[in-house]
Amino acid sequence: MVETTISVIKADIGSLAGHVVVPDFLLEFARKELKAGVEKKIINDFHVTHAGDDLELIMTHFKGENNEEVHRLAFDTFMKGTELAREKKIYAAGQDILSDTFSGNVKGMGPGSAEMTIEERKSEPFAIFMADKTEPGAFNLPLFKIFADPFNTAGLIIDPNLHDGFTFVVQDIMKDVPCFVDMKCPEEMYDLLALLGSTGTFTIKKIYRADGMVCASVSTDKLHAVAGKYVGKDDPVAIIRAHSGLPAMGEVLEAFTIPHLVAGWMRGSHAGPLLPVALKDSRCTRFDGPPRVIGLGFQVSNGMLVGPIDLFDDIAFDITRQRGMEIADYLRQHGPFEFHRLSSDRMEYSTLPKVLDKCSTRFTEEEIVPTGKAKDTSDSAE
Ligand code: 13P
Ligand code: 13P
Ligand code: MG
Ligand code: MG
Repeated sequence: MVETTISVIKADIGSLAGHVVVPDFLLEFARKELKAGVEKKIINDFHVTHAGDDLELIMTHFKGENNEEVHRLAFDTFMKGTELAREKKIYAAGQDILSDTFSGNVKGMGPGSAEMTIEERKSEPFAIFMADKTEPGAFNLPLFKIFADPFNTAGLIIDPNLHDGFTFVVQDIMKDVPCFVDMKCPEEMYDLLALLGSTGTFTIKKIYRADGMVCASVSTDKLHAVAGKYVGKDDPVAIIRAHSGLPAMGEVLEAFTIPHLVAGWMRGSHAGPLLPVALKDSRCTRFDGPPRVIGLGFQVSNGMLVGPIDLFDDIAFDITRQRGMEIADYLRQHGPFEFHRLSSDRMEYSTLPKVLDKCSTRFTEEEIVPTGKAKDTSDSAE
């Protein structure tokens, strides 16, 4: 049986008027490049979109994961698109391109990728979630809820096909060499949560059903760790299959209704709520945010895409967005204070250490008492 691969490869190669949105000419250019990729039989089908300032290439093919031709097509699209962005002096042109020499696949080169190879079922519904102004750990909480929390996913209790649970493959993204552990849920739920709660260190890479069927895949490329210096956050994508023995699409979407706090937002240095938004609102504005996620629903049929449907374009998510905006308002009042601003260890790759270094030279072991004679101002105060 032919196996279909869904590859989502993304990069921020420049955005309009700040880190707001991918300009139309880059979206059009990417569509032209991927159309040529179809003609050259590198891919079967594609859909190009954007999550805020991140250009998202959604592709299907029969070539498997980490395929050189497919990754090269995406990488060349980003490289040529960067040239166009530079010509027009678009802001942060080439932001996520860390190396201009392609070496087999996009890993470690800046772009992020989530891929999944499936044996197509009789009907194959899936969703792609694409977030801006956050990091891969942002998907830990919703993915846990979808595949492990019966208060979110009714099917875990009432559908015998889900009843045996799921295996989570978790990556330690702070390690130089990719490092993984797999944990079975519900059996190892407490250990799993002990890891997943540290969203900046441990991220879900893949999820499998107890019988080995792959159900979810997340981009875990840690852009700033790869670069060794701050170059923008690694805004993540996730592919999630639904239905027929997996969580229903409605159970998948239910997990995005909190809206939970994620790291990112302004200068990649702040905690904020993740707003689920329609494509028309896929642009970050207030304080470069708040962080947002879009969800596109597709079916795949013999390697071809059918769709998409804009999953968060619905009044059912208004209450989540409203709550999120109230949380954003509350958090903003903390200004430069934790826990709105991230702790210094999570800002290692920002420009904060430069400022702290300058301050550190002024510290002494003795408490300094300013010199001079204090004036008695009690009369003038009356
Ligand atoms: P992006 O990672 O989306 O480019 O955002 C960077 C940033 O600093 C926003 O303030
Ligand atoms: P500038 O230095 O261009 O203002 O960028 C700040 C920023 O957005 C960091 O990503
Ligand atoms: Mg950007
Ligand atoms: Mg972005």
